[in-house]
Amino acid sequence: KSEDEIVNVVFIEKDGKKVNIRGKVGDNLLYLAHRYEIPMEGACEASLACTTCHVYVKSNHCDTLPPAEEKEEDLLDMAPFLKENSRLGCQIILSKELEGLEVELPKATRNFYVDGHTPKPH
Ligand code: FES
Repeated sequence: KSEDEIVNVVFIEKDGKKVNIRGKVGDNLLYLAHRYEIPMEGACEASLACTTCHVYVKSNHCDTLPPAEEKEEDLLDMAPFLKENSRLGCQIILSKELEGLEVELPKATRNFYVDGHTPKPH
């Protein structure tokens, strides 16, 4: 309802294009991206089973985020193009502290969920 619940987020797409989005406190970054048609995948619907929501968190907020839990770390270890500031987007929940968050999408992601666990559709 009030202005102070808005959290501005910048998505940097694969081609370098920056997209500014107004999220709200409590928004899940993955679903926020989907609402604005940002090409961030989320094959396992935020159930910590894929890594397709891999993002790089820009340095201005690397330390603001709560550290990754073990399961997130384990998954990230399997993600292609892993960097020090890699996180899983579906585990990022917006808070006022994250105002101005910038996240960059990696060149490619790999979907372990479909590869490993679900039957092929045909
Ligand atoms: Fe699958 Fe984030 S959407 S781990």
